[in-house]
Amino acid sequence: MEHVLRVVDEWRNRIEDHPLHRWLATDDDLPPEHRLWFALYFTNFIMYFREMNLYHISYGERRGLDRHREAISAHADEDMTHSRLFMRDFATLGWDDLLDWRPSEVLHWLFSSEVTEGLRRRTTALAKLVIEADDPAVRYAVVESIETCGNALFRHTTEAAGRYERRTGRRLVYWGEFHLARETGHAVDDDAFDGLELTPVQRRDAVRRVERVFELIDEQNSEMLTLAQETVSQGGFAARTARHATPPREVPAVDPPARDSLLHPTETHPAQRPILDALHRAVAGLPRFEEPDDIVERLRRTLLFNATDTLGSISLYRYMISYPWPVDAAERALNRLAVRLGGRADSGVNRRSLFYVDWASLELDETLGWSPSRMLEFIYLDAATEPWRDLRAVATHHIDSTRNPVVRYWTIVAMKSLNAAHAEPTAALARVAERQLGRPLPYLTLKLTADRPGLEPDPEADAIRFADLPVDADVVDRAVTMIEELAHAFRCRQEALMPTRLG
Ligand SMILES: [Fe+2]
Ligand SMILES: [Fe+2]
Repeated sequence: MEHVLRVVDEWRNRIEDHPLHRWLATDDDLPPEHRLWFALYFTNFIMYFREMNLYHISYGERRGLDRHREAISAHADEDMTHSRLFMRDFATLGWDDLLDWRPSEVLHWLFSSEVTEGLRRRTTALAKLVIEADDPAVRYAVVESIETCGNALFRHTTEAAGRYERRTGRRLVYWGEFHLARETGHAVDDDAFDGLELTPVQRRDAVRRVERVFELIDEQNSEMLTLAQETVSQGGFAARTARHATPPREVPAVDPPARDSLLHPTETHPAQRPILDALHRAVAGLPRFEEPDDIVERLRRTLLFNATDTLGSISLYRYMISYPWPVDAAERALNRLAVRLGGRADSGVNRRSLFYVDWASLELDETLGWSPSRMLEFIYLDAATEPWRDLRAVATHHIDSTRNPVVRYWTIVAMKSLNAAHAEPTAALARVAERQLGRPLPYLTLKLTADRPGLEPDPEADAIRFADLPVDADVVDRAVTMIEELAHAFRCRQEALMPTRLG
């Protein structure tokens, strides 16, 4: 471990004088709170940090297995509370008025704007580095690196926060001393990992991940500095809002092609039969779809509560399910499926664009009337949306704790099939509402964007039928467990959705 920590130290020195850090600590005519605007290009990460700690850094029910897991989990308990500190400063700094965004603008900024695509890619990459590192020694190295970067950043934001506090008399808890006192720069608060001997494999894995964490955060810091300086030079977010926070309004839609047999397997290789059986049981066990009294109210609720899944799944397909360097036809086939479902990173077009058309047709911005901070609260912290975060954690955990394309494939199929159980009757309601309202609901009626992503020919990959591949017992076990956990999370979610009323 000493060797790994030496690598962390080297990087600590390298990032200390990052231009973002120096800029944050500069004392000149620029009001210090304007320097903190960089964080609005980092919000998705800051708020997601709670989930990352709660579900992925902490060992959860397995924390008691040994003192290493316990130490990492104990630190995560503290860190998962910091997203709330950010929200307190959000209010103190008056950022609701600064941004003046409607809920759909908040959603677009966080989940689909091209200005924040790099952040989403890096946040997903960091989450992957944590989730894949199940071994506590390796996870410790990853978290130690993230904490080192956090500590370096907060030592510099404290300078800006201090000047702000002296001028206004208002205290900043996230950006100032209060948070820094809880950010020691270390992944654990005791000596659990001191002197730990690593095997060569553990050491290689840990060092590789440490370097990756620092590279990602270094890149992110550079990008945030550029974006913050642009924003400052434009005098605030008005120009940015028009260009980067305004969601698409008109998106040509088409009816989907006939049922895609790749996503709806009916036959499997005999070894995979237990997986298909588990899926059939899972779908049969979902709560029955109940017809609502008020169709528009139900559709609004469905759209609102599913917003993060719908929009967040773009990053899931692009950066979590796909293989950055596919090594065989099966991995290339999975990448092709991910492009079809998630769109290309550089095109911006995907089925999720339709979501905003429905949002406008159902007048959700007007119905909710929520401030940006209320929307952030709803997405990341609200008890009402906890089952959605739980489900997201199950899916991301199972996709990332394996490299096996068959398990990743079944995760997609299970999500689609479990969703369809309610999405299809909801589509029937949406078609009724379209006629009543005289406005289009392409997303809820399950249409696709007319602009489909092109794929280069790859007949070998196209011939892959994942369900027909021979697999070993471990893959079957993983896939069955994944389906059972997803089904449980879906049931909890569906039960939570039914009684909630908006407003
Ligand atoms: Fe923190
Ligand atoms: Fe921390």
